[in-house]
Amino acid sequence: MHEIQDKVCFVTGAAAGIGAVIVRAFLDEGARHVAALDIDTSNGQALQQDLTNKYGEGKVRFHKCDVTTNEIDAVYDNVVNDFGYIDVVVNCAGIMNDRPNAYVKEIEINVTALIRSSFKAFELMRKDHGGRGGTIINISSIVGLFQAHLLPVYTATKSAVLQFSNCLGMDPHASRSGVRVLTLCFGCTDTSLFSLSKMGAFDKETDELLVGSLGKLPMQKIESAVAGLLTAYREGASASTWLVTSDRPAEDITGNISKAYGIMSQGVFS
Ligand SMILES: NC(=O)c1ccc[n+]([C@@H]2O[C@H](COP(=O)([O-])OP(=O)(O)OC[C@H]3O[C@@H](n4cnc5c(N)ncnc54)[C@H](O)[C@@H]3O)[C@@H](O)[C@H]2O)c1
Repeated sequence: MHEIQDKVCFVTGAAAGIGAVIVRAFLDEGARHVAALDIDTSNGQALQQDLTNKYGEGKVRFHKCDVTTNEIDAVYDNVVNDFGYIDVVVNCAGIMNDRPNAYVKEIEINVTALIRSSFKAFELMRKDHGGRGGTIINISSIVGLFQAHLLPVYTATKSAVLQFSNCLGMDPHASRSGVRVLTLCFGCTDTSLFSLSKMGAFDKETDELLVGSLGKLPMQKIESAVAGLLTAYREGASASTWLVTSDRPAEDITGNISKAYGIMSQGVFS
């Protein structure tokens, strides 16, 4: 059983939505410190102020950081300088916008930056390179588990997160590094990710279908998503995948993923 108590934590996309509630939950669980990274300065600073009032000086710090730039390396170095180590990294920053002027950025944020941050964390934490182990939690989605025609690029990014995180979390990497890599697949969760100003489809026709589908999606509470993430953190083995949807308790679906890849890889090695 893993505990957040006394851990130094690092959360991207932390100023709003699911990320901000993860920061609050980690402090509630007794984290030593939480570094909260986001591009959204006004929400980030407000979160820092609110949580400093509640938990005291030094428990949380907002870092203005675009995860697609090398600003993130500077924040890693900063946190290690100040606190000596980072035990838990949650790569939560993400956007859902397949529009022609946004999809390259979507891939950069959801995939490239997540991989870059994961490798930075893995190198820092790995026991075989002088670290003391740790946990990387990467945020995928239910769209990594089915074929969602409305958002082909977003769906591809979350499938990439699932494969990358599962493969990095497998042996021999896990046993020689002591680093756990967990994947969370959240169902629709009530955040501004779905606001019309933030999301978009790759063409006008699909945009209409996407907007039309919105009212029909069952949304879970952010707190349910974060409660599921805490369960995965406490109980999850490296390379495990967790489904947290419809306000239900977190479900370890690692066996389903293995079965699915067992089917998909039929004929590959024969
Ligand atoms: N809300 C859902 O239904 C849902 C479902 C499955 C997965 N997810 C995933 O959960 C994560 C959080 O989503 P959310 O619903 O809380 O969305 P959100 O829009 O409320 O929060 C995302 C946060 O990421 C930040 N961000 C965006 N680009 C960034 C960048 N370049 N650098 C740093 N920060 C950046 C935003 O400023 C924002 O604060 C995302 O990865 C999303 O894909 C969400």
